[in-house]
Amino acid sequence: MASAKRVTVTDIQHMKEHGKPITMLTAYDYPTAKFADEAGVPILLVGDSLGMVVLGYDSTVPVTVEDMIHHGKAVVRGAQRAHVVVDMPFGSYQGGWQDGLRNATRIMQETGCGSVKLEGGIRSAETVQHLVEAGIPVMGHIGLTPQSVNAFGGFSVQGKTPRDAVHLIRDAKALAEAGAYAIVLELVPTALAHMITQRVDVPTIGIGAGPFCSGQVQVVHDILGLYSDFKPKHARRFAEAGQAVQEGITAYREAVEAGSFPAAAESFYMDERALDLIRRMAPSAEQDMSQAEVVLRELEDAPQQQTRTE
Ligand code: KIV
Repeated sequence: MASAKRVTVTDIQHMKEHGKPITMLTAYDYPTAKFADEAGVPILLVGDSLGMVVLGYDSTVPVTVEDMIHHGKAVVRGAQRAHVVVDMPFGSYQGGWQDGLRNATRIMQETGCGSVKLEGGIRSAETVQHLVEAGIPVMGHIGLTPQSVNAFGGFSVQGKTPRDAVHLIRDAKALAEAGAYAIVLELVPTALAHMITQRVDVPTIGIGAGPFCSGQVQVVHDILGLYSDFKPKHARRFAEAGQAVQEGITAYREAVEAGSFPAAAESFYMDERALDLIRRMAPSAEQDMSQAEVVLRELEDAPQQQTRTE
């Protein structure tokens, strides 16, 4: 069967041009990528948020290039159609564009993803330009950039003063001019995100940036209720999967303890004559199995007959 055509960065840009809202969702593993792909989500982000929602760190700072490659590969295997973007983690590009180019090349080659994302506006524009010139599509990310959480002093809304707002507009323009094909706006007031969206040609993808961006991105654990440590204001629960998981695991433990799992339907069958022979080989716990070879030869010579185990 022919596989579906993968969404490209050009397709994503056409969505903005045609006014079609762009949906992006994080995914960190094969099954989630399959679910999202089958749900028609056009962009899957292997976000370094995996450090918090999957690996249990309290920020994205400890995430490594190896972590991103490991999860990126799984997501690419799970998604037939979606465009897969892999985050460049903290420390993989801040040292200069040469570092960025080397790490982005590794991520592209080893995961098979369609593009990378990195944080920062003017400060990252040179790196974005070099990556784009090397043929690597780049998504930018400004506003609250979680890799700088230690510099920001927390996860707070950005661009609220006139000076900060002007900086953010300049950041967005610098990324677009450097060749970024889309820009994530994280925790930005709605009106400012709207202005930025009108002032750059490339799509803006908001998270906590209101409804007037070209698209929206959310962390899958937040919209499915799978991450209980923190619920961001911008996230809506579209399902209570965490509760379902909790109930399912509790029911499993209760069934094991009650002796009701596994039942016959969840058990496997073997040859009745083989069972009989094994009983003859080991009639008691003390049996030393010295007659086993003789009985096994008898079994191999006999015709097979299936029956249920006890
Ligand atoms: O890592 C991530 O999940 C992200 C989104 C918050 C945009 O960068």
